[in-house]
Amino acid sequence: MNTYNGEFLSRDDLTKLGVVTAGPDVRVHKSVVIINPEALALGDHIRVDPFCILSATGGIRIGNYVHISAHATLIGEGGIEVGDFANISHGAKIFSAADKGRGYLVGAMVPTETRQVTRAPVRLMNHAAVCAGAVIMPGVTLEEGSVAGALSYIRKDLPAWTIWFGNPARYLRRRERDDVLRRAEGIARQDSAERGTADPGSPWRN
Ligand SMILES: CC(C)(COP(=O)(O)OP(=O)(O)OC[C@H]1O[C@@H](n2cnc3c(N)ncnc32)[C@H](O)[C@@H]1OP(=O)(O)O)[C@@H](O)C(=O)NCCC(=O)NCCS
Repeated sequence: MNTYNGEFLSRDDLTKLGVVTAGPDVRVHKSVVIINPEALALGDHIRVDPFCILSATGGIRIGNYVHISAHATLIGEGGIEVGDFANISHGAKIFSAADKGRGYLVGAMVPTETRQVTRAPVRLMNHAAVCAGAVIMPGVTLEEGSVAGALSYIRKDLPAWTIWFGNPARYLRRRERDDVLRRAEGIARQDSAERGTADPGSPWRN
């Protein structure tokens, strides 16, 4: 199957840019904007699709088996960590820095002293998912296996293995932890068998 404009940067291309990569199966579409590539660390089995923005000014670390879909934005000024098997869907926006703006100016084109910016790390733990169009604010942790539904606005931590949606976000249901983990272990085991190595785990977090 042919794809027009379907070119991805390889691991070698990324290494030349200064990106740290842990494994060979890493693809980042050529249209992706990477700011401060030296502070971007990618695990293995990663794909970043067209028109994403990875702004790693405060560091972005991504684990294994992570797909970042088209038009996702990661503003990493306060630091962003993405665990194994976590997922970031189309158009999701993850802010580890954001203007507060009450008595201050906002935006990058005014002097720093006239702004009040909240900077705090965002963490997506293993198996967390940010669905299409969701917005994650500075300091938030999506605990293991938690889900922010499409178009939701998340400004507080999400408990492990729970699903939330909306603005303000509200609880929907629990997620099946054991089933998810069993499936993920199968993939990691198969990968190790094919490569003939013990499962290396993720060097990037936890
Ligand atoms: C959060 C989510 C994963 C939950 O899925 P689910 O557990 O199957 O939930 P359901 O579809 O059974 O929805 C249950 C109820 O919550 C509502 N709901 C679920 N997610 C919602 C959302 N993001 N926004 C508004 N309402 C939502 C549904 O309308 C439904 O309401 P009803 O009972 O009154 O009909 C899913 O709704 C979602 O947001 N999916 C988007 C996934 C995505 O981004 N995909 C991108 C392409 S990969």
